[in-house]
Amino acid sequence: MDKWWRNAVVYQVYPRSFQDSNGDGIGDLPGITSRLEYLKELGIDVLWLSPIYESPQVDNGYDISDYQAINPDYGTLDDFDHLVEKAHSLGIKILMDLVVNHTSDQHEWFKKAISEPTSKYRDYYIFRDAQENGDLPNNWGDFFGGCAWQKDEASGQYYLHLYAPQQPDLNWENPQVRRSIYDMMNWWVARGVDGFRMDVINEISKPHDLPNGKKNPGEKYADPGQLVNNGPRVHEYLQEMNQNVLSRASLMSVGETPGVTCQEALRYANVDGTELTMVFEFEHMALDGNPNPALGRWYDGKAKLSDLRSNFTKWQTGLAGKAWNSLYWNNHDQPRVVSRFGDDSSEETRVKSATMLATMLHMLQGTPFIYEGEELGMTNMPFTELSQFEDIDSLNAYHLIVEEEKLASPEAMITYLAHHSRDNARTPMQWDSSTNAGFTTGTPWYGVNPNYVHINAEQAMKDPHSVFHYYQKLISLRHHVDAVVNGAYALYPGNENDEQVYAYTRTTASEQLLVVLNYTGKELQRDITVGSNAKLVLSNYDGDNLEQNQGEIVLKPYEARVYLTQL
Ligand code: GLC
Ligand code: CA
Repeated sequence: MDKWWRNAVVYQVYPRSFQDSNGDGIGDLPGITSRLEYLKELGIDVLWLSPIYESPQVDNGYDISDYQAINPDYGTLDDFDHLVEKAHSLGIKILMDLVVNHTSDQHEWFKKAISEPTSKYRDYYIFRDAQENGDLPNNWGDFFGGCAWQKDEASGQYYLHLYAPQQPDLNWENPQVRRSIYDMMNWWVARGVDGFRMDVINEISKPHDLPNGKKNPGEKYADPGQLVNNGPRVHEYLQEMNQNVLSRASLMSVGETPGVTCQEALRYANVDGTELTMVFEFEHMALDGNPNPALGRWYDGKAKLSDLRSNFTKWQTGLAGKAWNSLYWNNHDQPRVVSRFGDDSSEETRVKSATMLATMLHMLQGTPFIYEGEELGMTNMPFTELSQFEDIDSLNAYHLIVEEEKLASPEAMITYLAHHSRDNARTPMQWDSSTNAGFTTGTPWYGVNPNYVHINAEQAMKDPHSVFHYYQKLISLRHHVDAVVNGAYALYPGNENDEQVYAYTRTTASEQLLVVLNYTGKELQRDITVGSNAKLVLSNYDGDNLEQNQGEIVLKPYEARVYLTQL
């Protein structure tokens, strides 16, 4: 099998917010096609499209009503074919978002499951009676803060939804459901796609008897993750999908797997290729959560470097040689990394911390994913009030935490949302300094970050010191230096507990990379020996050189350096 994705870099587009081509304020496929040269210039290999299918957009396309039709807001199948053709001609592969844990409640299958309860479609979903005492089938909450059960008034039964009530969960136990999904995937493969990003794929197998879960004090519902993540038959299903679709065409497949452990990832992403080619793990995204578990990720603190390092080290060494991982800071569900783990308070710190964080991630082993605008150092949005939020998850969380559970004050919760809302990622792409950042000539569906006037692609492409040009260099290093792809990871000796500097090496038989990163805004000195034949191949400061003071390195604020030594 050709493991082409091992030295590839992926770029994620959120179609609604990337580029509008017809002035209706909504990004679309022709808009994406018109920006492919920009992506080529950046140097990426794969374009992941967040869902572009027909959808009522309750969860911005992650609620699909027809898997084989394009959302008319985004264009037509012809527009899609044209995008694929042009991307391929530029050497860019296409990754589709596969959302098959659930459909939209407007999908034909679900509509029939409700209107014809005796039809075969009823068993495409998970319906249950209330308990004898009238209680809900179990105590699960959904991941958006509500109850996981929605009543079907006509029959009195309840159906399961791990996300919004408009996103009913599919019943993977039903072989016909699985067959239809594989057929649909093969239909896209025949249309030219090169792989799939699989939405919450480790949640497809529910424990058979749907038992109650444990609740945190103060919580109304149990977090269903403890029961549905990595469920009893998930590996069986993925092996079946692998045989029926994935292994037939050397497809790339990245499973979004919340709550996945290293141990589980060794199975999902095993190098023998019997399941997926890689996973998205979430552990490093949970290092800045609220100290009160009932508030989950809603918080405004920053992750400690020691936590990030020990987490990366665990995954780098745990999977080495046995499974393959993805690398990411950002996606459409995460706040902007420079605002989250870096410092966007001044132009200088924004550029330096964005490039330092990019170096930290891109020099690790795995397939890096860049989220639209990350390569410009796009920041969080300056949110100050509830009415500015759009995302169903953020709005539900506010309602639940502030109004129902009274776990946070309105002011504290707005601060947490401003830091952590998914909306931070969904503001339009900042192309230039013209009105609406060049995203649309109409009224954008969602507000443009006012800092587009100076943070935008046009400006970044002109500036040799921009975050954009730095990402270009990181991508190019991956394409040209074998140790970036294949080198064994090790911490620099003595670096284990350093709260300010992260230093690691990547070593093959013939070369060694040394990566040194200052996680702080202060100048620091460290005992790090750089060999006399080491070459500085990348740095985010001008004028860095190998001159050293007896093995000591002086690191400027948020400095990142990468040295390469031929062994
Ligand atoms: C995944 C998606 C997220 C969506 C959810 C339900 O986590 O990334 O955007 O809301 O699944 O489909
Ligand atoms: Ca449009």
